[in-house]
Amino acid sequence: MYARIIGTGRYLPEKVLTNADLEKMVDTNDQWIRERTGIAQRHVAAEGQTTCDLAENAARQAMEMAEVSPDEIDLLLVGTTTPDVVFPSTACLLQHRLGLGECGAFDVNAACSGFIYALSVADQYIRNGNAGKVLVVGAETLTRMIDWNDRATCVLFGDGAGAAVLTADSEPGIMSTHIHANGGYSDLLKVDVGVSRGFRAEERGGLAVSMRGNEVFKVAVNTLGRIVDETLAANQLEKEDLDWLIPHQANLRIIKATARKLRMSMDQVVVTVDQHGNTSAASVPMALDVAVRSGRIQRGDKLLLEAFGGGFTWGAALIAY
Ligand code: COA
Repeated sequence: MYARIIGTGRYLPEKVLTNADLEKMVDTNDQWIRERTGIAQRHVAAEGQTTCDLAENAARQAMEMAEVSPDEIDLLLVGTTTPDVVFPSTACLLQHRLGLGECGAFDVNAACSGFIYALSVADQYIRNGNAGKVLVVGAETLTRMIDWNDRATCVLFGDGAGAAVLTADSEPGIMSTHIHANGGYSDLLKVDVGVSRGFRAEERGGLAVSMRGNEVFKVAVNTLGRIVDETLAANQLEKEDLDWLIPHQANLRIIKATARKLRMSMDQVVVTVDQHGNTSAASVPMALDVAVRSGRIQRGDKLLLEAFGGGFTWGAALIAY
């Protein structure tokens, strides 16, 4: 039994913040941001608009494409690191919103790798025969925890949501998923406040993403190189067998480095980072949806999805679409 993707969806909030807008807020410029990151603009959730709101839009689109009704979903997973509230989980809030009945529902917090992590859980449930249809969402409102005075981070992130519906099928499908983490790197990329340590944000540099960008960059490039090798080896595939790379959309230079490692031309790489910056767990499912809806990805194509994020966490999925 395999898990096959039968629907995808995405949602970006209306408000757009361009590089020119940021030039008015911090000492930065459009050229620097484009050259170092490939980002031209990002979307920002409206006041009062939450991660669940974004997720709902993406999920409805995916369910519509999949032609599944709410009562058919057996499991709901939401990859997010920016939940609406501490609890209930965003998955529980979303389950109710979508009228999914009483299926299992939980969040997966693996920062930017959240969707790949959630996809790997969905894959196990379907392969084991414990679920027939699973809704997997990656949704974030990262701009809620950005220090808008910190030019090193505020230019990088944005809000968004992506979703996929998986069904059990005798044909592949997801061929394999691979997830890893190394908490030894927790200091390089973090938000240092929380429930148990206390929300005394002012003592910890505010409720804000802090990052040692240069070091993150190097580990990301290295680690993504290793996980693509691991994924190909597990499926006895060569680099040339891949049709599409659907990478985490954090930084165009990291994406290009991974493509080079795979000897793939940039024509075979789905790039959306220019349009919305780093949307963490939402980025891979949004890029997948863009490629599916534009007709670039065809049934039978071999896709490599990969992501890397705070933790550090990283993961990949090989899919025969
Ligand atoms: N605008 C203009 N200048 C900026 C700037 C900005 N927004 N942010 C930093 N700078 C400056 C720095 O202050 C530094 O100035 P200095 O040389 O006078 O000290 C200079 O640009 C170079 O900074 P550095 O941090 O070395 O740049 P970089 O080439 O490493 O690029 C990142 C910075 C953040 C774009 C890059 O490190 C990166 O992409 N890292 C990975 C981030 C990431 O993807 N994180 C999420 C992983 S899921």
